[in-house]
Amino acid sequence: MLRICVCVSGGGTNLQAVMDAIDAGGITNTEIVKVISNNRGAYALVRAESRGIDAAVVSPRDYADRELFNRAFLQCVDEAAPDLIVLAGFLVVLPPMMIQKYEGRIINIHPALIPSFCGKGYYGLKVHEAVLARGVKITGATVHFVDEGTDTGLIILQKAVEVQPDDTPEVLQKRVMEQAEWVILPQAIDMIANGRI
Ligand code: GAR
Repeated sequence: MLRICVCVSGGGTNLQAVMDAIDAGGITNTEIVKVISNNRGAYALVRAESRGIDAAVVSPRDYADRELFNRAFLQCVDEAAPDLIVLAGFLVVLPPMMIQKYEGRIINIHPALIPSFCGKGYYGLKVHEAVLARGVKITGATVHFVDEGTDTGLIILQKAVEVQPDDTPEVLQKRVMEQAEWVILPQAIDMIANGRI
């Protein structure tokens, strides 16, 4: 059984997609052992708790400096003893010591086709604003392993989504989530859980 720890910051629709896929059998051989949020107000926490999943908050606001936060965050992850850490809309830069410790065992979902619209400053709605500003006709989502760069790790899965002429960032974000993110994130977890990666 693959023990996964899901890190979140906001609404948690990707977390929901993973929980639903586990229930529906789209992901097998996998258990969510913990959900960690940096944001006390994240709706993702409600989703986890309503499912009876252990949920924790580790917020930078509660620590005097970044180093103390990093240590507390890593300790919270370690306590779950995960086989895989899933960043599902987690908008905090991971401490380098954590990336080293869990090398090859951290994956992230990014709401664009890497290497486009990724890296520093490209997160959440900002990605879709940039896509519309550039006028590209195809966007999508990427699941990749996390290394010490920003969105530079090995790509696992990608799925393309069409941009429509009258899209707003919000409309496009929703289409990318529905057609790509909620599909490829569960798929990637299932592949890892069943030794297909
Ligand atoms: C998702 O679109 C995810 O791809 C994005 O944040 C959103 C979180 O939504 N992540 C990034 O931009 C990371 N660079 P959710 O909380 O509803 O899953």
